[in-house]
Amino acid sequence: MSPVDAPAFYTAFARLYDRLARAPGVGRVRRRVARTLAPPPGGTVLDLGCGTGGNAAPLCRAVGPTGRYVGVDFAAGVLRVARRRLRRRQPPWRDRATFLRGDATRPPVDAERVDVACATFLVGMLREPAAAVRRWGRLVGAGGRLALANLERTTAPLARPLNPLFRVAVRAGAPGEADGSPVERLERRVAAAHAELDRITTATVRTRGAVGFLRVTAGSVRPPSAW
Ligand SMILES: C[S@@+](CC[C@H](N)C(=O)[O-])C[C@H]1O[C@@H](n2cnc3c(N)ncnc32)[C@H](O)[C@@H]1O
Repeated sequence: MSPVDAPAFYTAFARLYDRLARAPGVGRVRRRVARTLAPPPGGTVLDLGCGTGGNAAPLCRAVGPTGRYVGVDFAAGVLRVARRRLRRRQPPWRDRATFLRGDATRPPVDAERVDVACATFLVGMLREPAAAVRRWGRLVGAGGRLALANLERTTAPLARPLNPLFRVAVRAGAPGEADGSPVERLERRVAAAHAELDRITTATVRTRGAVGFLRVTAGSVRPPSAW
């Protein structure tokens, strides 16, 4: 499969992915991201590689009734699921959430209107994750906040026996790029993205969860001249 097949992959498996994205325990991860991202009330939050919109509800709650949520994804299928769910929601935030089709590494939004941005389970799919993080940093600007959440193998002794299962799950969910080990590629990219976020932000929070499988990093972007 070529890398350009990723949107087709996520379109074909959109409904299945939606179930995984709302599995028990995942909601806790999403609430943790919203808390760590800490968007200003009334602000605009950008959700990069938003998938079926699993982050939309906690992020809309975080920005409050006058805030805005914008989700960006390049797969038409996941956006269809996200928009369908949005139509069933009640105002006020039903009218303040938008899902856009586009490349998350070059989000199709106006910089002046984005206060904070997050990417959950995305950067492991990006060929140049550190460059994407820098672009997002420029988009939210100095003082704006960024958060990343990703899965990787755990080092927790009691949970380590689950790593082979994680490897199988990553292989099954890795569209395109047939060369090399999917789990090692994912971890290389995740490490690069989180390290870059660490480098360009201040007051950076680094947390682990899900018995060591989950890594969350968030911080306030320093002025780009200081990077
Ligand atoms: C593992 S899913 C995560 C979805 C969502 N963030 C969540 O937490 O459930 C990765 C998503 O990123 C999207 N994606 C991957 N690369 C992208 C890119 N360059 N631009 C836009 N979307 C992208 C895929 O279509 C997919 O919906």
